[in-house]
Formats: sequence, C-alpha cells, structure tokens
Amino acid sequence: MKAHIAVLPGDGIGPEVIAQASACLAGIAQRFGHQFTLTPYPFGGAAIDAHADPLPEATLAACRSADAILLGAIGGPKWSGPAAPRRPEEGLLRLRRELGAFANLRPVSVLAALADASTLKREVIEGVDLVFVRELTGGIYFGEKRRDARGASDLCTYTVAEIERIVRVAAQLARTRRRRLTSIDKANVLETSRLWREVTQRVLDQEFKDVALEHMLVDSAAMHLIRRPRDFDVLVTENMFGDILTDEASMLAGSLGLLPSASLGDGRHGIYEPIHGSAPDIAGRGIANPCGAILSAAMLLRHSLRLETEAAHLEACVVATLEAGVRTADLSPAGRAATTAEAGAAVLSRLQQRG
Ligand code: IPM
Ligand code: MN
Repeated sequence: MKAHIAVLPGDGIGPEVIAQASACLAGIAQRFGHQFTLTPYPFGGAAIDAHADPLPEATLAACRSADAILLGAIGGPKWSGPAAPRRPEEGLLRLRRELGAFANLRPVSVLAALADASTLKREVIEGVDLVFVRELTGGIYFGEKRRDARGASDLCTYTVAEIERIVRVAAQLARTRRRRLTSIDKANVLETSRLWREVTQRVLDQEFKDVALEHMLVDSAAMHLIRRPRDFDVLVTENMFGDILTDEASMLAGSLGLLPSASLGDGRHGIYEPIHGSAPDIAGRGIANPCGAILSAAMLLRHSLRLETEAAHLEACVVATLEAGVRTADLSPAGRAATTAEAGAAVLSRLQQRG
C-alpha cells in the first residue's frame, strides 16, 4: 500500500525518538512491500523559532492531507514562562482540535520481563493490561480562560454529544476486550461530571448491555490504579483527568518512555505520539527511550493504515528487544544502558529478520 505520513518531530527528545520510529516504519515498508512517504514538518517550539507559530499553516495543511501523523513531543523551558509570547502546547491543542482527534487511546500493559523495572511490587502489576480512553478536545483545556489583576479562571464545559461519542469509542473497545468499562469523573463536586455520569450510564444501558460499567471518582481511581491495577480493562475519562491518570498509570509499565498513544477522530485519520514529554533535561544526550514512539508507529499501522499484521509484528519486535535485555537508562538504572539509537537499531534488525 502507499501511505503519506506527516512527521512532526517537535522539541527536546522528540526528534531523537522519532528518528527511530521513522526508521522502523521504513523497515516495515521494506519488509512487507509498502511505500510509505515520511515527510517532516516544523511544529512546536521549533516552529515558533522558525515561523513564530507553533502550528504553521503549511504544517496543518500537510497533516490534514496525510494518511496519518507521527508526532514526537513538544515544549521546553525556552518557550515557557510568563514572558513567552507563544507556547508549543498551543500548537498541539490546536492540531488535536483542528483534526477532530477527540479520542486518545493510551494502552498500558506490563511485560513479564519488565515487572521488576516498576517502582511497584511485581505481584501488584504482573498481568496488567488496560487502556485509557481520554477525551482530548474538550473540557477545561479548551474552555474560556480569563486573567485579571484579581485572579484567573479556566472554564470546563462538556456537551452531551461530546460525552456520547467518547463513551461509544470506549465501550466499543471494551467489547473487543474483557467487556469492562470504568468511567472516571468527579460527580460529587463537578456539574460536568454529573452530566458525564448520566450520559455514560444512558449510552451503556441503551447501546452496550453486554459491557459491564462502573463509575469511579477520580481520586479513588488514582488510588485503585496502583492498589489493584489488574482489575481495570477500559477506562474512559475527561481530558484533564485522563492526562494526569495516564502519567500515573505509565509507572505500572515501568517507564513513561514505553507508552504510546493514538488520537483518533471519526475516520481513520489519527495523530500518533508517545505519551511522554520533550524531556529537556535529557535532550541531546541520546539516552531517551524510543519504545513509546516506536509503539506509537505500530498504533499508526493498526488504526490509520489498517495493517494489523505489520502492527503486531512491530510490537512483537519491541517486546523481544526488551526481553533480550536491550534497555535504555530509564529501564536499567544499574546496568549498562542502551542508547536511543542502539535500542532503535535492535528493534529494526529484529523486524528485518526472516522467519
Ligand atoms: C499529553 C501532554 C499534553 C497534554 C501537553 C503537552 C499539552 O501532557 O499529551 O499528555 O496535556 O495533553
Ligand atoms: Mn500529559
């Protein structure tokens, strides 16, 4: 198949991990006889420097016409602080919104070989296999912001339609898995959460009688996630709760650097990015973990290109690489750690092997 992929390396470790993920996509194309065109575009802080805009029009246009978007990470001290005229994050939020990428899938599974890499006990995390479905284009991230001499406010709004469509994505996904859905809210305090709970219950009652639904308050969910993470299957929640809880959940897997994500809309189009940030503290040192970015490329193959065999193959190669002990510094604090390039090359050579 032929596919055009817009690549947005971004800032910090973004370009470093995206180089490895791009090489893996090229490797998949070669092995399975596809033609993927990967074209880089400026985005984030790098685009503020070059074009005074974190999401230049040409980048947005290329993202719209591409089959899928592979993104690194954005942000850094250079573009933050009260004096910063524009922020990289503004570009990311706009990209998600402009492309209608409202459903952010963040799978977390614990590899047996990595169970000791987590700060949590092996017996708590072994066998964890869950997916967060985070609402990505609504809520407090996008509400009106105000600031005056007395204070500031951020408005949180959700429409019924926004809740219905994300709950449907999550319930559909639960149907393909263990048929358990946990909806996370703060319905004891927030009006948007009370609406969230009502709508979720109605959608499940009417359309997904075969999926078991439980509601959980976000504070309690934060606790249960590290107390009994194996009990969760699919979790659906609003934008900001999802942002916070998925960073927490990444520690089940052992490192934030391992986790991929897919941001999907109504069609096949999607944005694929590791959930980690630009990590300015380690940028330029060649030590970042490329697995989150490579696994995001696998999600791109699966969801946007519908290449399930290729996606599963790439994922299996990442798992085999980690099982063979090739690990970046975040996963092997004591031993000799692999560099970003070594870890990427190890995955690539596995995926080129025959048989
Ligand atoms: C994420 C990031 C972004 C978010 C930031 C960079 C705007 O933390 O993708 O989780 O909060 O959504
Ligand atoms: Mn985040």
